[in-house]
Amino acid sequence: MSSFKFYIPTAVECDRGISRKIGEILKSNQAQKALIVTDQGIRKAGLLRTIEQSLTEHEISYDVFDETEPNPSAESIMKGLERLKTVGTDHVVAVGGGSSIDTAKGIAIMACNTGHILDYEGVGKIPNPGYPLIVIPTTAGTGSEVTASTIVTNSLTRFKTAVISPYLFPKLALLDAELTLKLPADITAATGMDSLTHAIESYTSKTATPISRAFAIQAIELIGRNLPKAYYVGDDIESRENMLVASMLAGAAFSQSRLGNVHAISHTLGGIFNIAHGIANAVLLPYVMKFNLPACPDKMRDIASALGADTTGLTFREAGDKALQLVCSMNEALHIPRTIQQLGVSLELLPKMVEDSMRSGNVLINPRLTTPADIKAIIENAYQGNL
Ligand SMILES: [Fe+2]
Repeated sequence: MSSFKFYIPTAVECDRGISRKIGEILKSNQAQKALIVTDQGIRKAGLLRTIEQSLTEHEISYDVFDETEPNPSAESIMKGLERLKTVGTDHVVAVGGGSSIDTAKGIAIMACNTGHILDYEGVGKIPNPGYPLIVIPTTAGTGSEVTASTIVTNSLTRFKTAVISPYLFPKLALLDAELTLKLPADITAATGMDSLTHAIESYTSKTATPISRAFAIQAIELIGRNLPKAYYVGDDIESRENMLVASMLAGAAFSQSRLGNVHAISHTLGGIFNIAHGIANAVLLPYVMKFNLPACPDKMRDIASALGADTTGLTFREAGDKALQLVCSMNEALHIPRTIQQLGVSLELLPKMVEDSMRSGNVLINPRLTTPADIKAIIENAYQGNL
């Protein structure tokens, strides 16, 4: 690549316990009232307690919208917007995983734009910046705290649509590993593999840049070293923190490069079958890596090295095979199913799955040229376990 741009306006602060500074931060931003966007699981787990205390201590009034749903629908975003307008807030704070963050992005942007969130499907269609958004991720996976996109499901068509605009970059991301210590192992696995998928798809994307590749390869290395420990030990704060950093780095990488076929297909599976995003990516990743390997064996070799393989004396292709094996071993260690059939996918809707996947802009920047027949074959292989 001879020319490229790099743009991430989001400030990032990482420290243990930093989420307790939210009141102080909002005060210094002259905030009067904040809308916290989260889900009921986060609230029940008690993760809002110290954040609410901090807001009260700094006399920031707030309201909580906890109706975020997995694979958030456009309706849930418009419902959150109604709440924002009713209670009259001037800042939005997302506390949660990718669904809460994407819902908060939709609410914050629609606060200053007319119409419906689905009117803005695609790239660069939003005319006005939204309310300031501060993001506190409670999973290490989505990277949405540093990206310019929100993923919204159209409940009528079950199509997951991407709204992409520089106005969707949050103002600030607070990475607080203390909030992730009690994350259940299965969610640690699924979200961590989502991050690894972001990093690998970004690294191999046709539109990767020298800066996005630097972020992506660092994320791959951190995930290889820390995800198994975060999964098996859980309250190991160092591995949790490293996963939060890796997730942010992978997000920063793909905010520049976009993704590839794994996300094109997984968004389809999420939209049609309501399958959790991270787990769908984890299962699909090896099948797409195998498909992509002939197109970018040199980059696959780099991925194998970042994941700890000794690639001395191997050809690019042999080393790339090691990357595939290591990702499969990681899935196995994290008890991720081998097939999308095990996730509840049915092939009855295969033509729609192929059609919806091809609609994703991610197919166009996947490293290997991809036809509808290729997508069909990848889905069938992932269904049957043909690797
Ligand atoms: Fe993702």
